[in-house]
Amino acid sequence: MYTIALIAQKGGTGKTTITVSLATAAAQAGLTALIIDLDPQATACNWSDRRKKSYPESENPTVIDAQPARLQAVLEKVEGKVDIIFIDTPARSEQSSLAAAKVADLVLIPCRPQAYDLETIPNTREILSLAGDKPALAILNAVPSYGDRHEQAKIFLARINIPVCPITFGHRAAFGDVTADAVDRVLLLAGRALAAGVEPDRIVIDPAHDFGKNTWHSLEVTRRLGELTATGWPVLMSASRKDFVGETLGVGVDDRLAGTLAVTAVGAWLGARIFRAHDVLQTRQALDMVASVKGDRPPARTVRGLA
Ligand SMILES: Nc1ncnc2c1ncn2[C@@H]1O[C@H](COP(=O)(O)OP(=O)(O)O)[C@@H](O)[C@H]1O
Ligand SMILES: [Mg+2]
Repeated sequence: MYTIALIAQKGGTGKTTITVSLATAAAQAGLTALIIDLDPQATACNWSDRRKKSYPESENPTVIDAQPARLQAVLEKVEGKVDIIFIDTPARSEQSSLAAAKVADLVLIPCRPQAYDLETIPNTREILSLAGDKPALAILNAVPSYGDRHEQAKIFLARINIPVCPITFGHRAAFGDVTADAVDRVLLLAGRALAAGVEPDRIVIDPAHDFGKNTWHSLEVTRRLGELTATGWPVLMSASRKDFVGETLGVGVDDRLAGTLAVTAVGAWLGARIFRAHDVLQTRQALDMVASVKGDRPPARTVRGLA
């Protein structure tokens, strides 16, 4: 039984994506694979539930959830019954990362070739040393098909003495159903808020543009915002001046008003109700315009061609 833990102190680096990809590849190669999901968000478990709905016969890899304190007991229970185990962990949880690294034969640290991910690696390495310096590899994920950012990332990782997996994962827009993921997540959180006693009319949901999302994801979640409004919760959009607007138009932070207003208009058309804005007047006007096009608001003044 060989155990691989996927840890990274940063969220959205691809821990779950790589976990389910590797476990599925192991299953296809004839191994009995098990994923232990330590993340309370249960993304791997949800993936497995969806997979079973579409393909009821798909039992390998099996996915189970566990708490870090129960990990050892779970491993003892499955001893001898599976060939390979992948442990998926949440970001920003030293307890989970440490528990997973301690029992692993190999630790993989998914990391996108960008500064925000790379700068958290020393942090992750501290956890590795607490776990007894297990064999570990950084694995570069979501590598763009152009440019040499991954080469630069490899140089950075070599400099801080982290071995890098020779295989990298390319950026694949098809990897995630980002909107389904956002809907799952906000419904879970809204449910939790309700259960904790928050008044329903004080709850709004937000697809969280650019959080754990690259530009493709933020564009898609905007295009499919109707799936969020269809949940019935009021949708908040906070897309103003975001990096996906900047990357889409190739403009810096001071030149994102037109892009922001376009996104705002699409969001309003698809039913978003609350807009966080930097440019309040322009946003108000864009929203009034959309409301009038929709037929929800009369024009402020009409004097032409009414005869
Ligand atoms: N190689 C990739 N190409 C494109 N999108 C990716 C890639 N890896 C991950 N993603 C997407 O990025 C988001 C975060 O990935 P995820 O695996 O959930 O990260 P983590 O588990 O580390 O939080 C998901 O929407 C996922 O579909
Ligand atoms: Mg995850």
